[in-house]
Amino acid sequence: MPLPRIAQILLEGQPGTAIEVAGWVRTRRDNKGGFSFIELNDGSCMSNLQIVVDSSVPGYTETIKLVTTGASIRVAGELKASPGAKQRVELHAQTLTLLGPADALKYPLQKKGHSWEFLREIAHLRPRTNTFGAIARVRNTVCYSIHRFFQERGFLYVHTPIITTSDCEGAGEMFQVTTLDLDKVAAGKGPLQKSDNPAAAPAIDYTQDFFGKKASLTVSGQLEGETFATAVGPVYTFGPTFRAENSNTTRHLAEFWMIEPEMPFYELTDNMQLAEDFIKTIVRDVLRDRTEDMEFFNERIDKTILATLKNILDHDFKRVSYTEAVEILTKCGQTWEYPVEWGINLQAEHERYLTEKHFGQPIIVYDYPRTLKPFYMKCNADGKTVRAMDVLVPGVGEIIGGSQREEDLDTLLARMQECHLNPEDYWWYVDLRRYGTVPHAGFGLGLERVLLLLTGMQNIRDVIPYPRFPGSADF
Ligand code: 4AD
Ligand code: MG
Repeated sequence: MPLPRIAQILLEGQPGTAIEVAGWVRTRRDNKGGFSFIELNDGSCMSNLQIVVDSSVPGYTETIKLVTTGASIRVAGELKASPGAKQRVELHAQTLTLLGPADALKYPLQKKGHSWEFLREIAHLRPRTNTFGAIARVRNTVCYSIHRFFQERGFLYVHTPIITTSDCEGAGEMFQVTTLDLDKVAAGKGPLQKSDNPAAAPAIDYTQDFFGKKASLTVSGQLEGETFATAVGPVYTFGPTFRAENSNTTRHLAEFWMIEPEMPFYELTDNMQLAEDFIKTIVRDVLRDRTEDMEFFNERIDKTILATLKNILDHDFKRVSYTEAVEILTKCGQTWEYPVEWGINLQAEHERYLTEKHFGQPIIVYDYPRTLKPFYMKCNADGKTVRAMDVLVPGVGEIIGGSQREEDLDTLLARMQECHLNPEDYWWYVDLRRYGTVPHAGFGLGLERVLLLLTGMQNIRDVIPYPRFPGSADF
């Protein structure tokens, strides 16, 4: 029989019942009166179960000294009402079994107060801390909320490929996937293209590679998502995404998880409304289902986090065109590291000023200059801007990027040319505009960005179990 979890015992356990639990020791205190208190955690919630072990428990003397922080134990006994104010019930042990010791001199989490950097080096153990346990639980609740949100609205969950031969964002920030022997290639023995020109630089012959052409890890499932949205109706993808951008920031990962809905017959304003409902639903679900963890974040990580989240629920997201945003930024009297003028990419400092200082709430910036955005975004009649939208939130900046898609064949082909893309490489995507094209739109939410918003954690490397970033793919 599976053991009851501590969260359930703390909530509904009845004094007088016999129970058995197992978990990892957080602390042990020995009382002079001949008994010990153990704080036991099994990851089901932030709180520990207090266990009282009397010296009359069989094997007490030999076992108790091995019950140190990090050790795993199994305890059977009787649940009693606790005289302490901290907990409703406590477990009085009748048997105590040491499952696995944790050498007190070596266990890295023996003491509290480690730096985030140190904890990143022990990413295999950090889930045992209060903060990382809470992040794991909140992350799970967010994922559940996301699936529920789309399933309740009739969206189909589609699995788009991880290995791809097209670059969705057109930014060339892709990790190559190859089975070619790079050492051989370096030694000049690799598969090289035949060339009649002896002066030409040698080029690799990818027809000899595993897929017969150059392949990469996907930067987005959007293009394949569009093929399903224009067949089965609204869909969403939810999967790992890879970007080889060399940005060593607290907001970027080389491997992150992205949720990408794609909806036929949606225009940009419909897309904005869905994005706003989506964020609010996630925030509401997490506040409702992870109260204890959220109070912990508010107390220990960021004292404004609950107020920020409530503020998000209480207001409509402000919608601001890129042109208006640039006007606000140029007139506000602030000095910028990256000067602002119409046509520039908004930097984190600009995004955060808008959402944190100027509006004090989430905003949706739309109609960006065409030159800043990928080929697939729908062109506006002004000839300068595209139907793009970014959702910016306080504390984080951009968490969603999306757009209405260009559904007109000729305009799309012209945009591809402008972006130096070969339509032949995207022939299947272009086909969607040849056969039954429809207006459609979608967006991408970065899962780790939404976790930064929810937890108040400062570094994106701490809200994913095993972060990958330039120079680091340990574990
Ligand atoms: O704005 P992005 O690049 O948009 C797309 O990829 C579109 N194809 C989405 C779509 O319309 N279906 O990325 C979307 C979101 C960003 O707003 C951000 O939250 C997250 O993905 N993101 C990252 N998160 C962590 N690390 C990175 N390197 C990220 N790059 C983007
Ligand atoms: Mg973006």
